[in-house]
Amino acid sequence: MDKFNEIRSTMFRGRRLRKSPALRDMLREHEVRVAELIYPIFVVDGDDVVEAVPSMPGVNRYSVDRLEPLVDEIVARGIKCVLLFGIPAKKDAVGSGASDPNGVVCRAIRTIKLRAPELVVIADVCLCEYTDHGHCGLVHEGRVLNDETLPQLAKAAVAYAAAGADIVAPSDMMDGRVAAIRAALDAAKLVETPIMSYSAKAASGYYGPFRDAAASAPGFGDRQTYQMDGTNGREALREIAADLAEGADLVIIKPALAYMDVLKTASERFDVPLVAYNVSGEYAMVKAAAANGWLDERRIVLENLRGLKRAGAQLIITYHALDAARWIKEV
Ligand code: PBG
Ligand code: ZN
Repeated sequence: MDKFNEIRSTMFRGRRLRKSPALRDMLREHEVRVAELIYPIFVVDGDDVVEAVPSMPGVNRYSVDRLEPLVDEIVARGIKCVLLFGIPAKKDAVGSGASDPNGVVCRAIRTIKLRAPELVVIADVCLCEYTDHGHCGLVHEGRVLNDETLPQLAKAAVAYAAAGADIVAPSDMMDGRVAAIRAALDAAKLVETPIMSYSAKAASGYYGPFRDAAASAPGFGDRQTYQMDGTNGREALREIAADLAEGADLVIIKPALAYMDVLKTASERFDVPLVAYNVSGEYAMVKAAAANGWLDERRIVLENLRGLKRAGAQLIITYHALDAARWIKEV
């Protein structure tokens, strides 16, 4: 006890600065701004569709004609940016629907930009929603082709940018696709369109609910020959460096929560905006636990989002965005 009395006067007392809500608020190192949230939207072909996604409570698939009330709500909440995924009526071997100027994504882009010109619209660029085999690239004899896929992706990216998308976001994980898309955009005089690349994207079990929502599960095999082995942190950094060298303007790390170390290291190494994708499985886990009364949804969501900011995310793609925007304004 004598020893304790000696150190008492000098010991670190973290509790001194946790005494009151005001002190805690003043000293919070990271906060999430509503403008940093990106809300994903699933747009489905057809008319008059607002269809719940069972594994993602609170998330719907919308037909283009039913988008406007959602867009109004997004804008009213102060959210600045959405990320579009399309679910076409028809799929084929080469995913030709992906670059259809009258396809579901291009029509959604035009509708959203008419309704809310200030809303930043990002179009996801991939083939898996458009191919009948569900892979992110062209397939030959059971293998996913790399270089042959690049023109298809580039064509889709140009179609979205031409339809009015503010940013294109390739999520396919083919090598060289950022360079191919940049070259195609520039050739189409779309030099001002940024590329937000899914650079460090792991082959992850966390995408399960998304594949329900987007009807994009691979029909055979898996995505392990193109998406990364999630255990490889150093390789993730190499993927980011490669995409930056090819001209990526923003990079995504995905999934987010199990990959915070990648986010942290990347934030120290690269002077580029980092985007964390708080993916469908991460969302589903929180929603399921909250629905059972096992977790306080609001607390958990804000804790996760602030954790991602602390780890180095500048922007966060999250299905919680509408709720989080409300909670952020309330606190
Ligand atoms: C498609 C794509 C996927 C996600 C975003 N774009 C699924 C996949 O790669 O299988 C996952 C998003 C999520 O789980 O929320 N390439
Ligand atoms: Zn894909």
